[in-house]
Amino acid sequence: MTDAMTEPQRVWTVGTAPGIFPFAGHAIALFRRPLDFLNSLPAHGDLVAIRLGPVRAWMACHPQVAHQVLMDPHTFDKGGPLFDRLRALMGNGLVTCRQDTHRRQRRLLQPAFRAARIAEYARLTGREAQALCREWRPGQQVDVTAAMMALTTRVTSAVLFSGSLDAERAATVRECLEPVVRGLFVRTVVPFDAPFRVPTPANRRYRDALARLDALVAGIIAERARDATRHDDLLAVLLAATDGAGPPGEREIRDQLVTLLLTGVETTAMCLASAFDLLAENPEAERRLHHEADEVLTGHRTPDHDDLPRLGHTRRVITETLRVRPPGWIFTRITTRATELAGRRLPPGTIVLYSPYLLHHDPASFPDPDAFLPDRWLPERAAGVPGGAMLPFSAGNRKCVGDTLAVAEATVALAAVAAHWRLRRPPTRRPAPPRPAVTLGPRSLQMICEPRWPVRES
Ligand code: HEM
Repeated sequence: MTDAMTEPQRVWTVGTAPGIFPFAGHAIALFRRPLDFLNSLPAHGDLVAIRLGPVRAWMACHPQVAHQVLMDPHTFDKGGPLFDRLRALMGNGLVTCRQDTHRRQRRLLQPAFRAARIAEYARLTGREAQALCREWRPGQQVDVTAAMMALTTRVTSAVLFSGSLDAERAATVRECLEPVVRGLFVRTVVPFDAPFRVPTPANRRYRDALARLDALVAGIIAERARDATRHDDLLAVLLAATDGAGPPGEREIRDQLVTLLLTGVETTAMCLASAFDLLAENPEAERRLHHEADEVLTGHRTPDHDDLPRLGHTRRVITETLRVRPPGWIFTRITTRATELAGRRLPPGTIVLYSPYLLHHDPASFPDPDAFLPDRWLPERAAGVPGGAMLPFSAGNRKCVGDTLAVAEATVALAAVAAHWRLRRPPTRRPAPPRPAVTLGPRSLQMICEPRWPVRES
């Protein structure tokens, strides 16, 4: 990619999004048709004011503006409606913490994401994906999103608690994530608390799911405290950690585990489900995916971390999926001091937003932005993408800690499925538009399994 900072200095434009409703501002548009709303914003400037209820927020609509925000995390700290709501759920874990504790927290978690570990997790993903492929039957209709959630729950739980998440607990995690993620999004865009205090079925589902998730994590931490066996997972890293500030307390351990469960499972599952959805509409990209899987995984063998260098097209399918449908599609920051952005003075306490979805659909960065073209990521073509235009994992020191894991996991899982199955849309079903919640992706994706090879009954 070209370096955002080497582009000639441009004259910034600052505007306001039209269509402000009394009280709600743009919250209704952001809730009802978020992707269209985001795509409409760059027409109003490089930095565009929107209203979330009574609060004004600024959307960074140009890659260089987003880049400035992300590269100066002390001025543009984690905060604003998204992170204020997330904090209520995740506590003060790595995703939500402010800059003053970030470095310490990142050091604490980083060992679980080093290269040797990623290779192990990729191997595990290969085995789990292969087992999933064996469960499916020719002609069967499967909910691909649910299947990918099951897969990424198993991989993430291995990262966090090695084998401590048995089938029953893994099912609890999956059941809880859906209402939590949906409830969180509504709470992020609706700027008042009052509607969430009413005991409606949706509010009760959200609160019950949260309580169950909390109890599950607390139970695992308590079990581990009684268990003398040596474990090689993130929970063991946290329990053994000590630094200048002393070992993390039970609350911090809980916050980190809930944080990683919420960030690791749903994002990667949404990426995989979106990839299958997009492939069903793009037969040429799908044909090349199958061809590559056949060449690399001869005899339908289980893919492994060592196969990644030869799964170039598969990897580009994942990258292009992350561009077209970034699971993390919108984020907020808050200014900690007076600053200037796109030539506009911002006082401390100003809410600034950036949206990977908006930036990834800018035709100035990606010609024909809605088209799914994995070859955009061939090295010679990727070099022309402006710096800061492709941000599926963000940038700067708050960049996703799980990026390498997520890409390895998604690439291996996609190759494993491609070696066995072609997933087809049911003939009667019209493709549903992607529905964003806290993450973006198909909430349920029904597809028919078509075998690519004669299936042996086992
Ligand atoms: C395709 C999958 C994934 C996507 C698209 C994704 C995306 C992101 C993005 C955009 C951020 C930055 C948020 C911001 O700017 O406020 C982030 C942060 C983070 N992600 Fe991911 N993520 C993925 C997978 C994972 C996985 C597998 C894990 C761990 C198991 C993980 C853990 C985290 C954590 C802990 C942070 C906070 C990092 C920090 O502030 O230092 N993510 N992710």
